[in-house]
Amino acid sequence: MSKYSKIFSHLYDPVMGVLENKILKEKRKFLLQEVKPPVLEIGAGTGANLCFYNFSPDFDLTIIEKSPYMVEQIKKKFPDKIDKIQFIVDSIENKHLISQLPRFNTIVSTLTLCSVGNLELVIEHLKQLLHNNGKLLVIEHIRSNHRFYGTFQDVIYPAWKIIGDGCHINRKIDVALKKEFYPIYEEYFFAGVDFYLAKMRKSN
Ligand SMILES: C[S@@+](CC[C@H](N)C(=O)[O-])C[C@H]1O[C@@H](n2cnc3c(N)ncnc32)[C@H](O)[C@@H]1O
Repeated sequence: MSKYSKIFSHLYDPVMGVLENKILKEKRKFLLQEVKPPVLEIGAGTGANLCFYNFSPDFDLTIIEKSPYMVEQIKKKFPDKIDKIQFIVDSIENKHLISQLPRFNTIVSTLTLCSVGNLELVIEHLKQLLHNNGKLLVIEHIRSNHRFYGTFQDVIYPAWKIIGDGCHINRKIDVALKKEFYPIYEEYFFAGVDFYLAKMRKSN
């Protein structure tokens, strides 16, 4: 946890506001329309996806979020939902934790794989935690294939990692994911940076 994590948890919603309202809300709604419980969401942040889940009586949501400050924000924003969520304040990179968890029908990761420490390890854990016929649903910003933007991302990466609380702005998350999962739906879109949205199943 960096010393900026608490500040980051307070600034996240105001900073993301315009992008969220103009583009991401619609994308989240589309991504999460076919969620089947039990659901695992990793790095839920301030809970931007929570209003798109159908909290029916049989809905079952587990959140693994490493920042206690982000979990605090969720609890403040969604007091009516917190009884229905199992919060695990830990890292998705924790091997011991993963070995103790059940499997899920849906795993959701939005804007999270950019900030995990070891992307390959996390992808391995997601594969382990997903039922064979389950779905991984992702929206992640990625390194641009455009020569200028991609290089620009490489240059600003060290500074960005500090202000973005560990965010790797130049990660080829789409490429890494497609080594272990295959997309049944995928979409690339631009929203200031390049984004990858996908509904994926496990490759064998
Ligand atoms: C950029 S925010 C995204 C929040 C939210 N998913 C969204 O779509 O707005 C990334 C979140 O991932 C969390 N995170 C980063 N690394 C993590 C890890 N290894 N395990 C669990 N959560 C992690 C951070 O604490 C942060 O809340």
